Amino acid sequence: MDHVIDELRTYVKQKLEKEGSGHDWYHIDRVVKQARSIAKEEGANLFICEVAALVHDLADDKIASSEQAGLEEVEQLLFPLNKVDLEHVLEIITTISFKGGNRPPVRSLEAKVVQDADRLDAIGAIGVARTFVYAGSKGDLIYDPSIQPREHMSASSYRNEKSTAINHFYEKLLNLKGLMNTNTGLRIAEERHEFMTSFLSQFHEEWEGLK
Ligand code: ADP
Ligand code: NI
Repeated sequence: MDHVIDELRTYVKQKLEKEGSGHDWYHIDRVVKQARSIAKEEGANLFICEVAALVHDLADDKIASSEQAGLEEVEQLLFPLNKVDLEHVLEIITTISFKGGNRPPVRSLEAKVVQDADRLDAIGAIGVARTFVYAGSKGDLIYDPSIQPREHMSASSYRNEKSTAINHFYEKLLNLKGLMNTNTGLRIAEERHEFMTSFLSQFHEEWEGLK
């Protein structure tokens, strides 16, 4: 099935090469690598994890015109897969997104692996970088002390209401460590989490002119 992966890589690379909100090809490539290494440690099916990681953002509302259109595109791309594998990949990509946090837990081991890999790319140094690129692409400020972080968000308020890059850490990124599915993911998340908290405390001190 190596040729399936090669063809998918070529397609996704060309499609997301110029994506400007931090969901570009290199995000996908990092998630694939991370998913492969977590899958090996956790004994998950490598092929399913790799395919799902490759297509995981194609049906996302930031990239597809609609979730339905994105899923149809993925279904067409995955025509060489048998029905069971195809259904499994579709289930993974429809369940792993955060969208404000109001989602049921994912089911299969492979879904857990790919979700952990995607979430790991949202935290740590890469997570910090992506957050500011995303905020910049939407015209959000770095920080505005008069805008409080939101505690409960619907999928549409998560996406559409104005917030700031710094608030995104409190609204989502600092919660991800506690949402890891696998022990391998948790171990990596712990180090990345520490890095973010130290970034944030330095940020706030500089903001107040204390450093
Ligand atoms: P998911 O792929 O689980 O739906 P998102 O696409 O919302 O998650 O988030 C992926 C990454 O995009 C985040 O981890 C973050 O780096 C960035 N991002 C998403 N929403 C925001 C936001 N409002 N402000 C800053 N960065 C954001
Ligand atoms: Ni992603």
